[in-house]
Amino acid sequence: MKPQLIDSFNRVHTNLRISVTDQCNFRCIYCMPEDMDFMENEKIMTFDEILHLTRIFVDLGVDKVRITGGEPLVRRGVPELIKQLWQVEGLKDIGLTTNGIGLVKQAKALYDAGLRRINVSLDTLNEEKFEQMTRRKMLAKVLAGLKEAQHCGFNPIKINAVTMRDFTEDEIIDLAEFARENSYELRFIEFMPLDGDDIWGRNILLPGKEILNKIHEIYPLEPVQMNGNRKHAPAKEYRFVDGKGKVGVIASVTEPFCDDCNRVRLTADGHLRACLFSISETDLLTPLRAGVPDEAIAELIIENVKNKGPGHKINAADFVKPARNMSMIGG
Ligand code: 5AD
Ligand code: SF4
Repeated sequence: MKPQLIDSFNRVHTNLRISVTDQCNFRCIYCMPEDMDFMENEKIMTFDEILHLTRIFVDLGVDKVRITGGEPLVRRGVPELIKQLWQVEGLKDIGLTTNGIGLVKQAKALYDAGLRRINVSLDTLNEEKFEQMTRRKMLAKVLAGLKEAQHCGFNPIKINAVTMRDFTEDEIIDLAEFARENSYELRFIEFMPLDGDDIWGRNILLPGKEILNKIHEIYPLEPVQMNGNRKHAPAKEYRFVDGKGKVGVIASVTEPFCDDCNRVRLTADGHLRACLFSISETDLLTPLRAGVPDEAIAELIIENVKNKGPGHKINAADFVKPARNMSMIGG
């Protein structure tokens, strides 16, 4: 299939992130307030609608999807959805990003559905800080979920950590050691201004470089060459010189990678966002429900991607924070 999702900067989009719900059993302070309002149930895409839209995207050249949320595993039946996604001809890769809570119960079903790649969000190994960060007392359950996933055979298991200055900054080495000991790939994500609580600021943002330097001082690192499709990966990867695995940083704010972006996003209510920071989005679900033919929906997608802006403007004076936070967009 000839790729057709090409924007005016010649970026080819082959990677689709699908949010299956905006709901979550955590309330991470960098993501949403405690009293979050969630989307109405009837506005959320059914699995059939997700599959239908995915087929259209795959026809347009998408070959990789990632299931996200909110927390995807709070929605019932995700393993079944994954099974059916594997039936979409042309789709080569499926991943899942989760907060880990649901893995104790669902890791095996997910593995049996053919899922192999999972990213688990874990920002701290300290119980008190975990509770402050997520507003929930669930660290032990996340750790148990990680163990279960490993036991089932998931590979790779990546850990996503958002680290904040003067808060979890002192845990960088602990997280690195935890990942090294358990063969997880650790990736630090810079805190982005997509929070529900408006706590984002330069003073709280910990630059990826600083994180790497801290690790490098204790466990020397060397860069991993990124070739082919991996050039589009937002994480810059480093390997431990002693051979004990890899660590990455997603430095979205201090070292934007917008020039290499190959992603688009579908929100749980079926809106297409060409960028996390898009101000406008295209509703695909309403036309789909109205019976608009696939070709016309494909046109809507092509048009939206064509109009994708050059990149986020977090560092510019005229930056406008999108109205949706991460759980509403899909991480
Ligand atoms: N900045 C950076 N990362 C965020 N996430 C959620 N909100 C933000 C934010 N404002 C991360 C979560 C999870 C992933 C889906 O997105 O930690 O790992
Ligand atoms: Fe839930 Fe993920 Fe948002 Fe935390 S970051 S509240 S786990 S959606």
